[in-house]
Amino acid sequence: MQVIDKVFPITTNINSKGKLEIGGCDIESLAKKYQTPFYLFDTAHIEKVCDEYKYEFNKIYDNTQVVYGSKAFANKSIFKLILDKGLGVDVVSGGELALAVQCGIDPDNIYFHGNNKTPVELELAQEAGLTKIVVDGFYELELLNSLSKKKNIVQDIIIRLSPAIELDERTHEYTTTGILDSKFGFAIDNGDAERAINMISEYENLNLIGIHFHLGSPLFSTKPYELGIRKVAEFISHFDNFELQEFSPGGGFAVSYTRDDSPPDVSDYASVICNTMNEVISEYNLPKPKLVIEPGRAIAGPAGIAVYTVGAIKNIENVRKFISVDGGMGDNIRPALYGSKYEAVVVNRLWDERPKELVTIVGKYCESGDILVKDIELPEIKSGDLIAIPVSGAYSTSMASNYNMNPRPEIIAVKDGLDMVIRKKETFADLFKMDV
Ligand SMILES: Cc1ncc(COP(=O)(O)O)c(C=O)c1O
Repeated sequence: MQVIDKVFPITTNINSKGKLEIGGCDIESLAKKYQTPFYLFDTAHIEKVCDEYKYEFNKIYDNTQVVYGSKAFANKSIFKLILDKGLGVDVVSGGELALAVQCGIDPDNIYFHGNNKTPVELELAQEAGLTKIVVDGFYELELLNSLSKKKNIVQDIIIRLSPAIELDERTHEYTTTGILDSKFGFAIDNGDAERAINMISEYENLNLIGIHFHLGSPLFSTKPYELGIRKVAEFISHFDNFELQEFSPGGGFAVSYTRDDSPPDVSDYASVICNTMNEVISEYNLPKPKLVIEPGRAIAGPAGIAVYTVGAIKNIENVRKFISVDGGMGDNIRPALYGSKYEAVVVNRLWDERPKELVTIVGKYCESGDILVKDIELPEIKSGDLIAIPVSGAYSTSMASNYNMNPRPEIIAVKDGLDMVIRKKETFADLFKMDV
């Protein structure tokens, strides 16, 4: 089945009874055990992708560190898996940082990003001994220098640059980050990046060890990485007031959400990024830095699926058939926020031979924009059927809300026929426990 092969996790299987299985677990049985909606992660898939990124990049550029962009999905069990795989973690808040520290991730492998880190967050990072604080702007430079002065320490930092690389329409403007008109990073084109580097060399309590940029997410072409690396390398070749130990072109590696998507392979990204790195190092006579890449979506996205139960069905003759499920924009805001597209399958009707019909899968939230999948052909659906939406592991539960006072769903990991809760479902009591 094309959709199963293309967008479901690697251990997905149709078993001898014709049932959908992931990690050796039958999804229909899991839906009986756990209440829908729930999210399920195939840990073997996560491990495979981590290995693939490490292998493909180090094959060409032998000093590559793979760092998980944890904003895609931050969770204790996932962080432990990432740690076991030898990856670092990119965090963007005190919360993600606290989790990484609690999970025992080496502070040298925690990269702290963000355009407006608070003084409290920066102090937390310093107390944890981070050496990879990625400074995003002038305000943070001054703040971090004065915090370091107070502590009488010299803080290692990386700075984020904005190289003004435009992306094509396949990257949403909300997730395009490396252009001049962006809140992120020191722009090269207006002189901010140059000013920042010169300022740092004057600061007694900051030590610049690396350069970072992140162009956006997802990038369906490898070209922007090449352009970005060339521009940033040419720019830094003019400075001799810091020692380049690390260089990072960020994350943004695309995945297939639908059968029609065709993102580059990991080896394509690796080939362009690593070869361009090797070229610019020799062209500009740079010391060979550690290459740091930060895949988030590519690690968590395809490993996860969302499972819902169908409730209300509303057919408006010649207009639209709405299939309502028991989750929606509260657990996956991406379609509403970015117009993101997904596939879906009816778990208990995989072999339904009847003609397919065009439907729109919507959630239970009080918004007309609460659409999960618009215009998809599926076998005739009945209330009580189970819908699975693949490639739901990234930027869905991590962006989940309690809108309309709906509890956030349970998250399960599966492996070798075993299922394990990795985040409990919220209860109604959880929803108002912080109210006073
Ligand atoms: C600095 C940085 N690195 C890495 C990532 C991860 O991106 P992706 O999940 O597309 O790989 C992001 C995402 O926003 C980011 O801002």
